[in-house]
Amino acid sequence: MKATLQIDITKIQESKIEKTDFENLTFGKTISDHMFVADFINGEWTDFRIEPYAPLALNPANATLHYGQSVFEGLKAYKNEDGEILLFRADANQKRLNESAKRLCIPEVPEELFMEGLMQLLDLDRNWIPNKPGFSLYIRPFIFATDDYLGIRPSEKYKFMIFTCPVGHYYAKPVTVKVEQKYTRAAEGGTGAAKAAGNYAGSLYPALLAQKEGYDQLIWTDSKSHQYIEESGTMNLMFMINNTLITAPTHTGTILKGITRDSVLTLAKEMGYEVEERFLTVAELQEALETGSIQEAFGTGTAATIAHISKIHVNEVDYEMPQKPVDSFSLQVLKILDDIKYGKVKDNHNWIIKL
Ligand code: COI
Repeated sequence: MKATLQIDITKIQESKIEKTDFENLTFGKTISDHMFVADFINGEWTDFRIEPYAPLALNPANATLHYGQSVFEGLKAYKNEDGEILLFRADANQKRLNESAKRLCIPEVPEELFMEGLMQLLDLDRNWIPNKPGFSLYIRPFIFATDDYLGIRPSEKYKFMIFTCPVGHYYAKPVTVKVEQKYTRAAEGGTGAAKAAGNYAGSLYPALLAQKEGYDQLIWTDSKSHQYIEESGTMNLMFMINNTLITAPTHTGTILKGITRDSVLTLAKEMGYEVEERFLTVAELQEALETGSIQEAFGTGTAATIAHISKIHVNEVDYEMPQKPVDSFSLQVLKILDDIKYGKVKDNHNWIIKL
């Protein structure tokens, strides 16, 4: 790999890898040895470095702690059978990070800085990338404000960091969801399309209420009427109804432009499925559940990949989803995606960067 940016590397003295139980990985708990760091000071990104993963020292007046000026991404690296590292759609994540950053008045990260920092980090921590089916290295790039100032204005200083975690499945089993018609995740004109830390904070309380009732996640609806299905917070949502794949459009700015969402829609069209990017109403969903015209419901996301939905709660009624047959769309598309990610088939879409 040809290095184009000067990145100072300090290696960990003793790797944690030998003490890591790769058979029992809880999402986001096991962190690899190193992290990439860059600082934004005096209007430019500077001081690029890779260091041992370690706590940060923050001043209590740190702007992010008070006002949440922080955005993040999630992407994954895989290993093929020859042990080569394959990175899935990193260019799309880099672009989305900057779209999120713009919405939060955070300086954008140049493509070269994102890619070079990431590549060198992956190269150093390559042994942390699992090479088992269903496992991967989850990569978490993020940018946050570092001014120590309590006045409300965009921070003048920031940190851009990347660390990684070996992971298995985010959801160990099919998920149960409840249609939420009181609380709101995102409103038009708000930050719903950005991967902003605050979006996740605001979703926790309603999700907790649903969990107390026995559901894993919520299906968010639009903020004005609560009649239109939006997304699930950790995932975009897709419904196969009468052999048509339906998912919410992203033009309202209330829905995250999921990269797995885009990949699944691209593959679905190639597989010959009818695809509709339109708002499904809660009434339509309930009718499809009542009549059985709904064949599949699933979430898509980097962490979740494709998560089958086994139960949907709408208007006080629990609807069990049918068991997925092996030829179901979601299983087929998951296999195609996995084959691309693990380098088992030709990557016709230029989605893979090989290190
Ligand atoms: C992802 O899928 O990468 C996410 O960001 C979802 C979640 C773990 C916050």
